[in-house]
Amino acid sequence: MSKFNKTSLLGISYLDAEEIKYILNLAKKIKNAQMQRKNLRHLLQNRIMVNLFFENSTRTCMSFETAAKKLGMDVISFQASTSSLAKGETILDTAKTIEALGPDLLTIRHSYSGICDELKKQLKIPVINAGDGWHEHPSQALLDIFTVGEVKPSYENLKVVIVGDITHSRVARSNIWGFQKLGAEVTVFGPPTLIPKGIEQMGVKVANSLQEALKDKDVVMVLRIQRERQEKGYFPSKREYANLYGINKDNFAYAKRDAILLHPGPVNYGVEVAHEMANHPRFLVNTQVSNGVFVRMALIYLLLGGELKDVVA
Ligand code: CP
Repeated sequence: MSKFNKTSLLGISYLDAEEIKYILNLAKKIKNAQMQRKNLRHLLQNRIMVNLFFENSTRTCMSFETAAKKLGMDVISFQASTSSLAKGETILDTAKTIEALGPDLLTIRHSYSGICDELKKQLKIPVINAGDGWHEHPSQALLDIFTVGEVKPSYENLKVVIVGDITHSRVARSNIWGFQKLGAEVTVFGPPTLIPKGIEQMGVKVANSLQEALKDKDVVMVLRIQRERQEKGYFPSKREYANLYGINKDNFAYAKRDAILLHPGPVNYGVEVAHEMANHPRFLVNTQVSNGVFVRMALIYLLLGGELKDVVA
């Protein structure tokens, strides 16, 4: 593939394996360049990105902002709480107003699944889905896949398990698409109330026990358990969840000897991940965050017309 032709990223489901690899290859070059302290600010100087976040975020919002600034862009972060949404302006009118200000790129996070697809139909500027409801979180999956690629020789036949609340997880959905497109085998496991019926139709296996889920896996990805899920009765208590589904040193040993543990963050230590795992050498949560900047730099640059050959590393 000589050029990346997409101008928006609404989901991993819209990418093919070649496009995913093209983004990852550029992210690798960007990481190398950044490690050598090469300045890449000339690449997108005088361009503007707007972060349009209607939902809380630490990692994604700051990561996009950092990535854009490292490419020389100016960044404007929309504050939903002080905006004219409070006066009744719709999300579509808000997005169209921001587009009329003339930025080059919009990242959007919202709790409504499918909102990015809906808004994009009405907008001309490039849009990146920064997490929409239960649907997709494509830049998170790309940084997860990139992190795996740094420590595993190939994605082909790699055994990946995703543990936790699969039903409400945009991270799970994007990673299932992404890993499968690259030839990996994906298994899911979690409380039966949080595993969508018919998920096998996505091509994943469903494990029946934590031991079965972890056995012989190369990658263990744990999802955050959201407090509101417990309140709605999807599982009895955080303590029981930790006992049945939490990853600790003992059960992590069921996975392969060189297995890695990933988590999109924020982590609930003592629930989905035991405190004793916090400094485990194969728990790569902070590497994921660092890599997120390089992956998002690659993504932003490509969506704005850049090419792999432009970055020398
Ligand atoms: N992983 C992730 O999306 O984290 P934030 O909600 O902090 O952006």
